Amino acid sequence: MTKIKNICCIGAGYVGGPTMAVIAQKCPEIKVTVVDINAERIAAWQTDELPIYEPGLLEVVKEARGRNLFFSTDIDKAIEESEMIFMSVNTPTKTYGVGKGRAADLKFIELSARKIAEISKSDKIVVEKSTLPVRTAQSIKAILGEQSNGVKYQVLSNPEFLAEGTAVTDLHNPDRVLIGGDQTPEGLEAIEALTSVYAHWVPRERIIQTRLWSSELSKLTANAFLAQRISSINSISALCEVTGADVDEVAYAIGTDTRIGSKFLKSSVGFGGSCFQKDILNLVYLCEYFNLPEVAAYWDQVIIMNDYQKRRFAQNIIHSLFNTVSGKKIGMLGWAFKKDTNDTRESAAIYVSDFLLEDLAQVSVYDPQVPAASMYSDLNYLQTRPAAENKQMLEVCKDPYEALKDAHAVAIITEWDEFKTLDWERIYRDMQKPAFIFDGRNLLDHENLRKIGFKVKAIGKGEE
Ligand code: NAD
Ligand code: UDX
Repeated sequence: MTKIKNICCIGAGYVGGPTMAVIAQKCPEIKVTVVDINAERIAAWQTDELPIYEPGLLEVVKEARGRNLFFSTDIDKAIEESEMIFMSVNTPTKTYGVGKGRAADLKFIELSARKIAEISKSDKIVVEKSTLPVRTAQSIKAILGEQSNGVKYQVLSNPEFLAEGTAVTDLHNPDRVLIGGDQTPEGLEAIEALTSVYAHWVPRERIIQTRLWSSELSKLTANAFLAQRISSINSISALCEVTGADVDEVAYAIGTDTRIGSKFLKSSVGFGGSCFQKDILNLVYLCEYFNLPEVAAYWDQVIIMNDYQKRRFAQNIIHSLFNTVSGKKIGMLGWAFKKDTNDTRESAAIYVSDFLLEDLAQVSVYDPQVPAASMYSDLNYLQTRPAAENKQMLEVCKDPYEALKDAHAVAIITEWDEFKTLDWERIYRDMQKPAFIFDGRNLLDHENLRKIGFKVKAIGKGEE
């Protein structure tokens, strides 16, 4: 069987970085080199200021870095030296041409495959770690095959299921590892080679081996099912608000049915992150492509419901503040798409603040991990107004009390733990009256806040 001694990973992002750090930590005899075209990112991985914030990650990186974990911009060398190459590049939604706004943009995957084909002089196992549409391996094989120079390739699908904020614990203790490959003797051998890497720390019964296409499709399906649960409970939150039912009580009541289960039933201002929306849009595109319009419409509804939830939250703020927020300061707590990450991709914060800025609010944001530059770049990307106006209308604060001083309302967007222990009496004193709290995460103790004097509006909770 192919013994893996050198691994290369193309893409040093939220997936490539943590995944390879854990492989290097658990497999000290394997040299793991993570490469990227982004020199700034690679440089940051070599310091203690890692380019991504993830609890526990620095400890893992420090254990392996310089021993058998390396970060480099020398992509050619790392490819040449390795028996196994992971492709962990970004696959965002296409912003141009055919499939614009829906299909996954596979240009970075294609470039990586072409690079591997150009450089390789010995046989390689190429692993799809990025999330890809079903049957992408076919295109990768075609690209690799075209200029093979006698080199033999096996393509595996090994999607990543880690969630941001809990990446290290997810990687240390995964529910399962999925490996898909060709059901030929060579394909099965490649599957075994990758299995033996994970088997350093993952029990064999949790390593699922499948056909290539099943593995590729399972990743999109898993994300679609998870997001669907959030949209389902968010749809019920709207009904709760008009009927006086409490969405957390409903979620608890249904989640105790073991057939339903309790996870991913937390109603919120809407899901964000780089995966759910992108992957469902991709699924919808695939269904349309394969002429399955009913299936496409079914999954599209998950996104429609999520957009509705974000818009509804912002509209509720405007409506409650006497139908205008023009010139009013709104303090926003949290910009990241969930706690314990500095990632802001598709965060509800972007859409909620854009909506409020359209109504001429002054938004002041505090987030413990997100730099101001990311917030402005997120807003500017929407192109709703000139960058200079965003700069003028959105204030970024380093201190939560500063963000909320003289505000008419607080909007809780991210469920950072530190928001629970703020001095809410002081905040109340410093705010305009009536002082509103819009809790987009049902994070705070609403009863206590009402005692202080706040008017509290929460997701899926009717009027007092
Ligand atoms: P990312 O944007 O954080 O990182 C991707 C990296 O790839 C970037 O640093 C980029 O510079 C690099 N890159 C792009 N093209 C390259 C090339 N030709 N050569 C070398 N480097 C190149 O993305 P991510 O969040 O790590 O996601 C990567 C993939 O994993 C995506 O397909 C995503 O859907 C999937 N995924 C992400 C998560 C998550 O939580 N972020 C979870 C599971 C799966
Ligand atoms: C997701 C998948 O969970 C993970 O398996 C996959 O590999 C990548 O995509 P991620 O996007 O990092 O992970 O975080 P996740 O915990 O799934 O949260 C996604 C969004 O849903 C966040 O905005 C989160 O706040 C929201 N969410 C999650 C809810 O609103 N309610 C919930 O019950 C759970």
